[in-house]
Amino acid sequence: MKLKQIKLQNFRLYEDAEIAFLPGLNQIVGPNAQGKTTLLEAIGCLISGHSFRTHQPQELIRHGASQFFIQAEFEKLGILQSVKLFYDGRKKTFYHNETKLKSGSAILGMLQGVIITPDHIQLIKGSPGVRRHFLDLLIAQTDPLYVYHLNRYMRGLQQRNALLRSRQLETLEAFESEMATSAGGIMQKRGEAVLSLQPLAQKIYQELSDEKVPISLNYKTIGQARSPEQILAQLAKHRRKEMEIGYTLTGPHRDDFLITMGEHEAKFFASEGQKHSLVLALYLAKWHQIKKLSDCSPLMLIDDVGIGLDNVRKGRLFHYLNHLGQVVITCCNS
Ligand SMILES: Nc1ncnc2c1ncn2[C@@H]1O[C@H](COP(=O)(O)OP(=O)(O)O)[C@@H](O)[C@H]1O
Ligand SMILES: [Mg+2]
Repeated sequence: MKLKQIKLQNFRLYEDAEIAFLPGLNQIVGPNAQGKTTLLEAIGCLISGHSFRTHQPQELIRHGASQFFIQAEFEKLGILQSVKLFYDGRKKTFYHNETKLKSGSAILGMLQGVIITPDHIQLIKGSPGVRRHFLDLLIAQTDPLYVYHLNRYMRGLQQRNALLRSRQLETLEAFESEMATSAGGIMQKRGEAVLSLQPLAQKIYQELSDEKVPISLNYKTIGQARSPEQILAQLAKHRRKEMEIGYTLTGPHRDDFLITMGEHEAKFFASEGQKHSLVLALYLAKWHQIKKLSDCSPLMLIDDVGIGLDNVRKGRLFHYLNHLGQVVITCCNS
């Protein structure tokens, strides 16, 4: 994957800009509030369809404007191509080359990349949703069928929860069967992803930290059901209780994975520096896994590189980054 250029129009502070990238390491250096993170944010929108800073696309429009446009030109497996996102203030429209895409999730897997921001420390400290999103963005970039099943499951879940709350049990089964068909595959893919990340994260953590402490990742799911029949039975079993609380208690929307360092959960046990190193190791492991599954080196993007690391660990990280494909990092020159 070679990112050649991005174009930004009315995207946050950028009125009209074109930025070219080189193969290998690209460093974006400058004082605060110059638009460094915004560049990575724009690339991130073209990787995943969403900003890593906000769920409100209106916030991305430059103050005083009414729409924004971003475009990336890149070469993948020898083919020059582009992805574009146009937001008119109400609706996002995505394009691959000149073709309009049917939905935002169709962008996944085109411009492939992994982004690490200081906020990603939440992968260790934060709620299960952060870890599910981490896995979803890994699998979705390499498996379009996963995106289909995840969207179908989440749509079914929303409908089911709405019906539980309004106590309309007659139509519940149709949505439960949609959910049951997709849930098993989602859990299987997530379980496999966690298993494959574990040895990579362990090795990279050791390289970055020079600590020999074992790192383990354990996929956790609520409920034992795996096959569609078992999932349907599980949903039926909890219906009464779930009607009282108004939401669905079991299924992949409650998944998590436990990150342990030595004998203890990293969230409670690891020092801040260890947490930062661990986050890097997990995201770098994700980079390797996308590369393995798609035969193509994804972009590696790091915002405020080296934050939370001592100088020795920072040095090891830079050494590591030299061996990845194209890397874009930002840092302050203060
Ligand atoms: N919608 C917007 N319109 C105009 N300016 C914006 C918008 N959103 C953010 N900004 C400005 O962009 C700047 C932040 O850019 P950012 O990429 O975070 O900088 P850096 O990472 O270099 O510190 C801030 O000065 C902020 O006020
Ligand atoms: Mg910044």
